Amino acid sequence: MSTGRNIVVLTGAGVSAESGIDTFRAEGGLWENHRVEDVATPEAFSRDPDLVLRFYDMRRAAIQTKEPNAAHHALARLEAEWPRRVVGGTVTLVTQNVDDLHERAGSFNLIHMHGEHLNAWCRACEMRSVWTGALSHRPQCPQCGARALRPDILWFGEMPYRMADIYDAMHNADMFVSIGTSGAVYPAAGLVRIARDNGVQTLELNLDPSQGSDLFDESRIGPATRLVPGWVDEMLAGTK
Ligand code: APR
Repeated sequence: MSTGRNIVVLTGAGVSAESGIDTFRAEGGLWENHRVEDVATPEAFSRDPDLVLRFYDMRRAAIQTKEPNAAHHALARLEAEWPRRVVGGTVTLVTQNVDDLHERAGSFNLIHMHGEHLNAWCRACEMRSVWTGALSHRPQCPQCGARALRPDILWFGEMPYRMADIYDAMHNADMFVSIGTSGAVYPAAGLVRIARDNGVQTLELNLDPSQGSDLFDESRIGPATRLVPGWVDEMLAGTK
């Protein structure tokens, strides 16, 4: 496998599935238990803030009982090893996930484009603060004291975070790897097209073919905890 210098990895809910965190569109997945309109939109929040805050309190508590799996650890290993093996080599991890399993596995060059469960965002002063507790009892913002904290999670219709950094990483990429995402939601689902337009090597590691599978040079089907460590071993072996 030829190895590029700058690797961009995109992950979705499938990379955390084997850690016991629901994906979004599988049978009985997260949205099945709650209609999207009921929880993940600004309109839902203004219509029924208690329901939305309680929903995210449940999710925030749930992810803190989960552990990173072999896929998260393999990606952290690649990030640590790659620059040591490939002069000037970088690994940028763009995730749609809002859990902290990549961080807990040791990843650090990480972009959460859909926000983070363990942050709260004050609608009065805009400050984001680390938040592991509940929000449904309307606690005060640590900075301004207003009782205006909301989950720091991107809701449908809002702008994804740090898109300039993501596009920058994509334009410098030599390889783009998509892991555990259905390719159902843009702009994440469009990143593979940027890679193709730039002539960059593309690889998909997924339990089922994603909606954009045909756009990838190669698509490997299987669980992330098997495919990701295998791919990382391959990449690092290729740098000897
Ligand atoms: N290993 C690898 N892939 C897996 C595994 C696994 N163990 N389990 C599931 N998958 C794959 C599924 O085949 C599917 O393609 O992960 C993907 C999960 O797709 P979705 O549930 O649509 O999740 P995701 O692609 O991350 O959703 C994108 O949509 O609802 C919004 O903001 C939300 O970030 C989310 C975005």
